[in-house]
Amino acid sequence: MEHKTQRVEELRALKIIAESLNQANDLSTVLDDVLKKLIQVTGLTTGWIFLIDEKENYTLAADHNLPEALKGDNKSPMCKGGCWCIDRYKEGRLQRASNIISCKRIEDAIKFEWGDTNDITHHATIPLKAGKEKFGLLNIASPNKTHFDDTELALLESVAFQIGTAIKRIRLSENEQHLSVLAERNRLARDLHDSVNQLLFSLMLTARGTKELTSDPKMLEMLTYMQELSQEALSEMRALIWQLRPEGLENGVLSALLNYGKVLGLTINSEIKGVIDLPNHIEECLWRIGQEALNNCKKHSGTKSACIHMEVKNNEVRLEIMDNGNGFSFKQSEVIPSLGLKSMKERTESLKGTFTILSELGKGTIVSIQMPVTKEEKY
Ligand SMILES: Nc1ncnc2c1ncn2[C@@H]1O[C@H](COP(=O)(O)OP(=O)(O)OP(=O)(O)O)[C@@H](O)[C@H]1O
Ligand SMILES: [Mg+2]
Repeated sequence: MEHKTQRVEELRALKIIAESLNQANDLSTVLDDVLKKLIQVTGLTTGWIFLIDEKENYTLAADHNLPEALKGDNKSPMCKGGCWCIDRYKEGRLQRASNIISCKRIEDAIKFEWGDTNDITHHATIPLKAGKEKFGLLNIASPNKTHFDDTELALLESVAFQIGTAIKRIRLSENEQHLSVLAERNRLARDLHDSVNQLLFSLMLTARGTKELTSDPKMLEMLTYMQELSQEALSEMRALIWQLRPEGLENGVLSALLNYGKVLGLTINSEIKGVIDLPNHIEECLWRIGQEALNNCKKHSGTKSACIHMEVKNNEVRLEIMDNGNGFSFKQSEVIPSLGLKSMKERTESLKGTFTILSELGKGTIVSIQMPVTKEEKY
């Protein structure tokens, strides 16, 4: 009879957790919530979740009721250093829920007197998995609890399995969102190309054709003006479509930039060193930066030619865009005042790169980007 009530309790707990896992689509909210519920239904006090990436870096993704000793200094004891549980996970020795003999973080907390440990000494540790994929660890503890029995571990394992599946679902949907944004941009580019672009083109042709019908100088002047305006709008539109859909990025960033230069009416010399095989996120970043640098050449340099150098060496990529035009007065130490240059710098730094501008009045401009070639974070 007692066994039966326990089973019912366990099922109830699993149901509550399943419900909370299905509610949100934001990973950190979901993990926070499920941890809170798990602790409520099991009657344990403390828990935390580590997400561990492919490179085996771990991050504290959620925690509930951590003792002072582990919470201090902005939870730094939970964010650095190793622990037996993470070591085992990395070595591939943690396939199922286990009792961890003792907690290294707590041991350190006692040794270095970081504060109250709430009598927590041990924790259970459960890998978060979905099929063969592993995402991290769920750790659960309670004051003076040194052992988790098989029933407890089995329940925790079922919960961990549900959490693993939810992580997978959320990551897939994030990826899908990213893809649908790309698809939407493509659609917009196509629509603009087929509608507004064609209209502007007809407008330009009509203005040109109408000039044949009159010899009135005032009229001719206005028609010429219309023709020029629509020509200008057409090239703006073409550049906008290019921004939305980097046609040719599939052939690599350099070829896309060379094409973009052509769209802008610039003559571009290029030089390439090393094998340029870059992950998508780096290509996209260099592409955006390169576009803005070429826009600037076109708008401000006063010349119609530019030079692009690209090199990949020792896991680092360097892209330089230079012109021999007007240049401008700029000191490295200055805060960048304007949006175009600022966003180039921000994009570079978001991928841990360095951004430099060398420019002097009358001496041309060199924009240079250097960044480590790292693999794209996978969802
Ligand atoms: N290649 C260049 N040659 C000459 N001057 C340049 C060059 N690139 C940038 N500049 C100068 O630096 C200023 C800032 O450039 P930035 O790209 O930040 O702004 P912008 O091009 O004026 O505006 P936006 O990029 O927002 O359309 C420019 O206004 C221009 O004076
Ligand atoms: Mg600009």
